[in-house]
Amino acid sequence: MKGVILAGGLATRLYPLTFATNKHLLPVYDKPMVYYPIQTLVNAGVKDVLIVVSGPYSGHFIQVLKNGKEFGLKHLEFAYQENPKGGIADALSLAEDFSEGESLTVILGDNTTDADISKPVNNFKKGALIFLKKVPDPKRFGVPKFDSTNPKKIVEIIEKPKDPPSNYAVTGLYIYDNKVFDFIKQCDPNYIGRGELEITQVNNFYIKENQLGWFELNGYWLDAGTFDTLLQANIFWAKKRGSTVLDI
Ligand code: G1P
Repeated sequence: MKGVILAGGLATRLYPLTFATNKHLLPVYDKPMVYYPIQTLVNAGVKDVLIVVSGPYSGHFIQVLKNGKEFGLKHLEFAYQENPKGGIADALSLAEDFSEGESLTVILGDNTTDADISKPVNNFKKGALIFLKKVPDPKRFGVPKFDSTNPKKIVEIIEKPKDPPSNYAVTGLYIYDNKVFDFIKQCDPNYIGRGELEITQVNNFYIKENQLGWFELNGYWLDAGTFDTLLQANIFWAKKRGSTVLDI
C-alpha cells in the first residue's frame, strides 16, 4: 500500500490567506495543514508517499517537508498538476506511475482526522473503500444514497446534493486498487458542471461494478477549505493538544 496526498488547487475561497502560499501549508494550530494527512498515513503504516501539488506556491512544500524523514516516511515524492483547477481525480491521475500497480490510500490535503485507519488500510484487497462521516451539513459534500431494501449498500454518491439522500459526507479519505486509473480516464469534466474531474464520478464507476465498500470514520474529521472550517480545525486540534487558551 502506498499513499497519495492531494494538495493542489488555488483555494480561492481562502483569499487573501492563500495569496502568498498554498492552502495546505497554512497553520492548523501548531503545524502546517499537510502534516495531518501525512501523520494519518504514517500511523496506518503507509510510508511511501506521493504529494500532488499545483499552483504558484508548489515549491514551498519542499522547504516545509524536505525529504519527509522527520515524519517517519521512507520515501517522499512530489508530482505537479499542471491545471490547478483540474479537480481531485485529475490530480490523482498523476499517481499512476508512482503506484507501480499497488493499491493507494488517498487523502485530501485539507482533511484532518484523529481516526485510526490502519485496519481498513491493512485489510484492503481490491476495489475501492470510502470513509463516511455523519455531518450536520451534507450539502457541502459528496453524499451516499443507500439502497432502500439494504441500508448498508450504497447505490449512488451524489456530489453537493440540493436534497441530500443521507446525513453522511464522503470524506476525503479513500482507498483504491489500480483500476482507479482506468476509471479516471473515463471521467467527464462536466460531470457536475464545475469543469473538474470529480472523484465522485470515479466512486460511482466502482459502485456500478459492485466494487465500492465503505467504512464509518471513527473520530474527528473535518476538511478545512473555508474560513469557518479552518477555524474549527484549529480549535479542535488546539484543544486536543491541551491548549487552554479557548477556556477564557
Ligand atoms: C471534495 C469532494 C467531495 C468530498 C469532499 C471532502 O469536495 O468532491 O465529494 O465530500 O471533497 O472534503 P470539494 O472540496 O472539491 O468541494
